[in-house]
Amino acid sequence: MIVLTGATGGLGSQVLRYLLILVPPTDITVSLHNPAGLSPSIASSGITVKQGDYADPASLDSAFTGADKLLLISYPSIAHELRVRHHVNAIDAARRVGVKHIYYTSLAFGYGTTPESCAEVMQAHLDTEKYLKESGLKYTIIREGIYNESYPLYFGFFDPSKDTEVYIPNDGPIAWAARPDLGEGTAKLLALPPSDTRYDNTTLLFSGPQANLLSLHQLAPLISRILGRPVNVHIVSEDEYVRRHKDESGSNVRGTEDFLRKWATTFEAMKRGETGIVDPTLQEVLGRPLKTMEESLREMLTAQGEGEAIKQYAK
Ligand SMILES: NC(=O)c1ccc[n+]([C@@H]2O[C@H](COP(=O)([O-])OP(=O)(O)OC[C@H]3O[C@@H](n4cnc5c(N)ncnc54)[C@H](OP(=O)(O)O)[C@@H]3O)[C@@H](O)[C@H]2O)c1
Repeated sequence: MIVLTGATGGLGSQVLRYLLILVPPTDITVSLHNPAGLSPSIASSGITVKQGDYADPASLDSAFTGADKLLLISYPSIAHELRVRHHVNAIDAARRVGVKHIYYTSLAFGYGTTPESCAEVMQAHLDTEKYLKESGLKYTIIREGIYNESYPLYFGFFDPSKDTEVYIPNDGPIAWAARPDLGEGTAKLLALPPSDTRYDNTTLLFSGPQANLLSLHQLAPLISRILGRPVNVHIVSEDEYVRRHKDESGSNVRGTEDFLRKWATTFEAMKRGETGIVDPTLQEVLGRPLKTMEESLREMLTAQGEGEAIKQYAK
């Protein structure tokens, strides 16, 4: 039995979609914060649906019981301690109920660098990775690449319906990866038989391909071409970055000074080269070329509802 958390989310829903092609639905359970968020067609596909809240250990015990493998999708927040607490709850529950192997979706900052990352958003992942390695359980840590689909968050909270000037505190190379590719690659790892131990007790980097290695300055001409108008990137001080993006109304978490100062560390990490490592593992696992950033941008910039990306990643 494979239990998936986060299967209503952007990454988890892609993992589930591909896992359903690889294993019988009766071998899949989803542990969901909000089971009503699952599409009716998936809910009736033969999988088991359970309620599991990272904040409620008893619900996790119940949802993870019977699992050989657990996919632990990271809690979507920049709140370091809360995020780690939720992940620790899940790892402890898995251990209590006898899960054999945990797959954890970490993030692609600082792979192989020392110290591992200066990005605030990476710290909860590093703590979780350490806790998981010390848990005694079999693990596979997947440093999931920076999503093509999340580019507005890095590109100065870009709103393609009106923005032409983009203000960021630093820049650096990013090996962008498409979320469906990451989902498919993660599903393929989950579906491997226990006799295939290649990825046991390892930390993998699922990056995008060399062709997707693009700084934010290099994204600008691609976006300009698709939108048919100029888009210019400006490197400004952290204070100016905060001032330009601050939203005093408090209606939006990404507009708070606290969030913006933490988020600015992401750009420092990019400048250090933390997001610029290209690794062949994802392409090898998929056995086909990966989706390009340009393809994703064309899809997103010519579709309705681009603003949804900002709302989703601002949590
Ligand atoms: N690699 C990248 O570039 C990148 C970019 C942005 C974010 N991320 C992070 O990567 C992770 C997965 O990304 P994503 O795009 O799939 O995020 P997402 O779309 O926000 O999905 C998050 C999932 O977590 C679930 N969840 C929320 N609160 C929970 C709780 N208390 N207990 C159990 N589950 C809970 C959500 O369920 P409900 O919908 O029912 O609440 C949802 O299924 C998140 O941590 C996200 O912040 C990565």
